[in-house]
Amino acid sequence: MRKIEVAPSVLSLDYAHFEGQCQQLNESNANWLHFDVMDGHFVPNLTFGPDILKGFRKACPDLFLDVHLMVEDPKMFVEPFVKAGADLISFHVEALSDVLKIHELIDLIHSYNIQAGLVIKPKTDVHVLDEFLDEVDLVLIMSVEPGFGGQKFMEDMLPKVEYLREHVPASCRIEIDGGINDETAKKALHAGVDVLVAGSYVFKGNIKEQVDTLIK
Ligand code: DX5
Ligand code: ZN
Repeated sequence: MRKIEVAPSVLSLDYAHFEGQCQQLNESNANWLHFDVMDGHFVPNLTFGPDILKGFRKACPDLFLDVHLMVEDPKMFVEPFVKAGADLISFHVEALSDVLKIHELIDLIHSYNIQAGLVIKPKTDVHVLDEFLDEVDLVLIMSVEPGFGGQKFMEDMLPKVEYLREHVPASCRIEIDGGINDETAKKALHAGVDVLVAGSYVFKGNIKEQVDTLIK
């Protein structure tokens, strides 16, 4: 049986109550924390830098920090986020112009002894991932257009997950991000995901209770 992880996306966290929210995260059954880095260019939104990740590293020391880079120049941000405490860094294939650069960036991330992931946007063909499946620790399927929380889940992304389930080695997890709630989580799990990212759904109520409804 595969181990399912929930990765609450702190894009939707209530920053006016940071401490209390982190306490709830620590007490919940989520073992991961998903951290969306946006630069205002790759996506039309701007979020956090490495110093904020450092804050989470302190406040949630036991959580696995999953960094999702939505930036034009992912290479530039690898070292700062490694130093800030990332356990895994994922970047978009669409951000790099050729496959060689993708291989190099995966190697660079691994050179810091952390995990590396590749992400594809909804319009990107899943087969672009084929040649990297033996190299990466995670593939992330976007089930909304990246940039904002609270969007509707795109069901037509599920065949990508089904394809990957058949083709990834045991060393590679499948993650899905965007529009996950108790209903869509069931569909994503059925299709074969290992990691559910959930932002607005988890933070709209008691975090522990919301997380539990995703994995029950
Ligand atoms: C969107 C981000 C997501 C976002 C998901 O670009 O990558 O991680 O936080 O938010 P929900 O779960 O609200 O769709
Ligand atoms: Zn994300």
